[in-house]
Amino acid sequence: MAEIIDGKAVADSVVAQVTDATAALAGSGIKPGLAVVLVGEDPASQVYVGSKSRRAKECGFHSVQHDLDAATTQDALLALIGELNADPAIHGILVQLPLPAHIDADAVIQAISPDKDVDGFHYINVGRLVTGALESAFVPCTPAGCMLMIERVRGRDLTGLSAVVVGRSNIVGKPMANLLLSANATVTIAHSRTADLPAVARGADILVAAVGRPEMVKGDWVKPGATVIDVGINRIPAPEKGDGKTRLVGDVAFAEAEKVAGAITPVPGGVGPMTIAMLMAATVTSAYRAAGREPPRF
Ligand code: GUN
Repeated sequence: MAEIIDGKAVADSVVAQVTDATAALAGSGIKPGLAVVLVGEDPASQVYVGSKSRRAKECGFHSVQHDLDAATTQDALLALIGELNADPAIHGILVQLPLPAHIDADAVIQAISPDKDVDGFHYINVGRLVTGALESAFVPCTPAGCMLMIERVRGRDLTGLSAVVVGRSNIVGKPMANLLLSANATVTIAHSRTADLPAVARGADILVAAVGRPEMVKGDWVKPGATVIDVGINRIPAPEKGDGKTRLVGDVAFAEAEKVAGAITPVPGGVGPMTIAMLMAATVTSAYRAAGREPPRF
């Protein structure tokens, strides 16, 4: 049976490191500042944003949340970003996605200063990641969290290991593949158009599933001993729990895969808790860079 990678425990250790690093900056009169911007009333986004602001306060940050009306114009949002870019008390700016349809999300993201773009979505940060300039990059939080969990099992150097990322999104699949490549893995990006996906997956020492399809990766797609990282969070009907009940599953058929894998992340309790922890890590990193000090290594 596989080792179960406890995402909550790893996330707690990251948050503890962030809290210590924040305390160490206080002597220089610097407090990491995170601004989270929410436009509209999407209930799921409200929950995410609330969790991010709360975690930031727990880390000892200056935490500000801007809740804007759903009818906010793009110009008004860009004006707010301009103010946050210019505010020396703010080191990280996160605009929660999705934005309402009348706002051009890309224009908004590209307006964020690349040096405060703790989401790692700005083209400058994408370029830094792809060219391996990780010391100045911000990396999207979910793949950054996956990488940390892979390191806990396999170490920082993945020389000689084969990694397969199933999924090619800009937020997870592509940055994940680039992080694995920077760690010297031999990387394949597979997706819905890949021929014989099970066979490709079976070649992976490190298998990352980020497709958004419940339990798509079966036990016989997993190489014995592989490290399996499940990024999926899918809500499916659970009639066994009662009428109208649901449960969360990942993109990996966990019960089958854990019999074959060497280590595997559960859903929930795997990748999920890591994402906010890595946002906190990015914000304290930004504050260290702004102060001209060497940031902690996560
Ligand atoms: N919405 C869902 N996930 C994310 C994320 O990682 N960053 C932002 N800005 N919005 C999101």
